[in-house]
Amino acid sequence: MALLNRKVAVITGAATGIGESIARTFANEGARVVVFDRDGTGAKEVAADIRANGGAAVACRGDVRDAGEAGAAIERALSDFGRLDILVNNAGIYPRHSLLEMTEAQWDEILSTNLKGVFQCTRLSLPHMVAQGSGKIVNISSVTFHIGMKDLTHYVSSKGGIIGFTRALAREVGGSNIHVNAVTPGAIETEAEKKVATQEQVDAVVALQCLRRRIVPLDVARVCVFLASELSDGMTGQTVNVDGGWVMY
Ligand SMILES: NC(=O)c1ccc[n+]([C@@H]2O[C@H](COP(=O)([O-])OP(=O)(O)OC[C@H]3O[C@@H](n4cnc5c(N)ncnc54)[C@H](O)[C@@H]3O)[C@@H](O)[C@H]2O)c1
Repeated sequence: MALLNRKVAVITGAATGIGESIARTFANEGARVVVFDRDGTGAKEVAADIRANGGAAVACRGDVRDAGEAGAAIERALSDFGRLDILVNNAGIYPRHSLLEMTEAQWDEILSTNLKGVFQCTRLSLPHMVAQGSGKIVNISSVTFHIGMKDLTHYVSSKGGIIGFTRALAREVGGSNIHVNAVTPGAIETEAEKKVATQEQVDAVVALQCLRRRIVPLDVARVCVFLASELSDGMTGQTVNVDGGWVMY
């Protein structure tokens, strides 16, 4: 049987990149998915393509920072599919700025998108998961939290915040049979990554990995399937590296 048979999942930032791969991979494993993204056109295209391939998906346009729009995505899961089993907090941005040149607005934009967005979507999902006595929350952090990375103090702070949030929430909701885990992707080949990393930088990372190939969105999506399925029922509060063996913690 498919690993996520008839489970209902909301995936944030699912119009492209890693989130798109998570949505497609979850649908292939039998999940019914809400493709949630501020890019409404992209979200619609992904959801339509999943349906064209025999899966179940709806698109929802909105900003994870906004309680009303995040709440609408959660409501969409309930109205279209009748329940909410899985939340994947994937939406995130990663522009680079040195701290000396960073503006307060740039700091706030990263922290609000990457960390407050996780807070909004999670707090709005939890009452439904608590009521049904089960739930799986998967938070996408970053390996940069483990290693640090220049010109990304705002981003690394937000991704470290996600790991702290994951651990604290896992303790809070474990008694309700809700699992909360984080994934720290390494250098993942997406269009967004190409805008901030040169080929030379990417090659240097691959040389440091145990696995000498680019790690791709599907590699991350498959680990998310594991963390969203009953295969990981004994795990919560954990952080799983998907980085080709770049760093080991
Ligand atoms: N690509 C990498 O190398 C890498 C490595 C580590 C972690 N990550 C993390 O993985 C996640 C996805 O990264 P990606 O490379 O696929 O990026 P991406 O830009 O391809 O995808 C991010 C998606 O999130 C959406 N989004 C951004 N802000 C939003 C908001 N406020 N509300 C709703 N949707 C919003 C975007 O429209 C986009 O569709 C991010 O959280 C990123 O930090 C990526």
